[in-house]
Amino acid sequence: VIELVAVDGHQVIGILDVEIGDELATIDTIAVHPDHQRRGIGTALLHEAERRLRAFEAVTTLDAWTREDPQALGWYRSRGFAESEHYLHVYKGNFEPADGWGSPKHLSRPVMAFAHAALEYEDELRERFARVYVCRRFSRPVCPPSV
Ligand SMILES: CC(C)(COP(=O)(O)OP(=O)(O)OC[C@H]1O[C@@H](n2cnc3c(N)ncnc32)[C@H](O)[C@@H]1OP(=O)(O)O)[C@@H](O)C(=O)NCCC(=O)NCCS
Repeated sequence: VIELVAVDGHQVIGILDVEIGDELATIDTIAVHPDHQRRGIGTALLHEAERRLRAFEAVTTLDAWTREDPQALGWYRSRGFAESEHYLHVYKGNFEPADGWGSPKHLSRPVMAFAHAALEYEDELRERFARVYVCRRFSRPVCPPSV
C-alpha cells in the first residue's frame, strides 16, 4: 500500500491511498481539501505515488473506480487516464418499495440497501430508484523509470 498525505503547516490538505496487487495498482482514495483544489496538489500526490510504484517492477497499470463527479472525471481524463468498464451502484432508500428483495431468516426485507447492477439496466433502474450512479474504471500505464 502507498499512503500519502499533503500538508500545509499542521493541516492535512490532500490524501492518496494506492493498493498494490501483482500487475495492477488501484487508487482507493484521492481527495484534496476544497479550499486547495486546482493548485496541483492532486497531481503532485499522483506523481509521487507513481514514482514509488516504479519500485514494484511487476506493476504495469494504475487504475481507479469513480462515479459521476464532473471534477473527478475531468481530473482523471486530464491526467491521462482512459475510461473503460462501467457498472451501476444502486441504493434502495427507506421509502422505496422492498418488492423482490430477499432477507436472511428472521429479518425483514431490507429497509435500505446497496447493490451493483449491469449498465444495460440503467434506464429501468432509474425509474425504480432515486439513487443510481454509473461507476467507471479509469486506468493508465505505469511508465518505466526511463520513460
Ligand atoms: C479530483 C481531485 C483529487 C483533483 O485534485 P486537485 O488538486 O484539485 O487537482 P490538480 O490541481 O492536481 O489538477 C488540476 C487539473 O485537473 C483538471 N481538473 C481539475 N478539476 C477539474 C474540473 N472541475 N473540470 C475539468 N478538469 C478539472 C484540470 O486539468 C486541472 O488543471 P488546470 O487547473 O490547470 O485546468 C480533487 O478535485 C478532489 O479532491 N475532488 C473531490 C474528491 C474526489 O472526487 N475524489 C475522486 C474520487 S475517486
